[in-house]
Amino acid sequence: MKVAGQQRRSLWPSPERDAVWVIDQRALPHSLAIQRLASVSQVRDAIAEMWVRGAPLIGATAAYGIALQCSAAPDDAGLRLAQALLDGARPTAVNLVWATRRMLDALLPLPPHQRAMAAWSLADEIAEEDVAVNAAIGRHGLALMQALAAAPTRPGVAPLAGRALNVLTHCNAGWLATVDWGTALAPVYQAQAAGLAVHVWVDETRPRNQGASLTAWELGQQGVAHTVIADNTGGHLMQRGLVDLVIVGADRVTARGDVCNKIGTYLKALAAFDNGVPFYVAMPFSTLDRSIQDGLTEIAIEQRSPRELTHISGRDALGVVTEVQLMPDGSPALNPAFDVTPARLVSGLITEHGVLSADDLVLRNAGRG
Ligand code: MRU
Repeated sequence: MKVAGQQRRSLWPSPERDAVWVIDQRALPHSLAIQRLASVSQVRDAIAEMWVRGAPLIGATAAYGIALQCSAAPDDAGLRLAQALLDGARPTAVNLVWATRRMLDALLPLPPHQRAMAAWSLADEIAEEDVAVNAAIGRHGLALMQALAAAPTRPGVAPLAGRALNVLTHCNAGWLATVDWGTALAPVYQAQAAGLAVHVWVDETRPRNQGASLTAWELGQQGVAHTVIADNTGGHLMQRGLVDLVIVGADRVTARGDVCNKIGTYLKALAAFDNGVPFYVAMPFSTLDRSIQDGLTEIAIEQRSPRELTHISGRDALGVVTEVQLMPDGSPALNPAFDVTPARLVSGLITEHGVLSADDLVLRNAGRG
């Protein structure tokens, strides 16, 4: 997608095959900082400290981490250590372990001297596949939006003719969270390209504000109409007929369709359910964890530092990015980074294979879909 009119991706390997370059998302929206990661431990730190974030992107970045390990020391023990290091960087998004497992499954059967070349090309394949999968999610999501735009609206909601389709999203599931396109925002970008008028309500997404700092930035760069709202505003807008559709991303979807995503997603799903607003989850199949059923009990929810809550950073009047304390000294803070939305609250899953219901997912998992 575009930054200052130029086509960009969120990560790219060096042509010399000795590093991977990433956009340091901690610096956005105030500056576009690029970082070079040249070892598996640098990749691990970039994931843990959220220079890169978003489930598909941490998977692709970790794949390049394994490739860097292969260039440095391609023996079995080194590869297994690198896998454990990367897998431990963040616990919730399944794409991370999906990517490292895919790398090791392909590399371990090879003789060590062949591993580096194979690893770089498989990491490239994972990154390119992510772009293609997200483009497909975008096409299926666009069809859904076109159908919604053509259908009669619900009681109390203004007819769509002559106005934009209002989509609400949470966190950042745009191109910055993937290699390109994004998941939840891919349909929005495809709608823009297809000439379907769309406006995005962007949840600020406390405490790290991925909506306010990342989603708003990438939509602005792409010229998509959007408005940032406080996390508490979505239900109010839904009650007033100002949200036609919710689309969010996912960090892990269970075999029965429970969805784990950024903290606050569940509350949006409840409000959407109560107001009859369609609530869709955009997810590549790399986000599906077939090994578990119950999202509430079987997913490790990342607990992040209370400092993300007690402090906030932004640009001051002199243009300097600075951090300030929000809370009284000594007040404890709790910071679970994700929550689980039960499958019953999800209208459908927008995947690269089409829009599926939770029941479709169960059938596919049983090999019958
Ligand atoms: O903690 P983050 O910023 O990595 O969380 C990201 C999200 O929750 C996204 O919604 C999810 O990864 C989907 S990304 C396409």
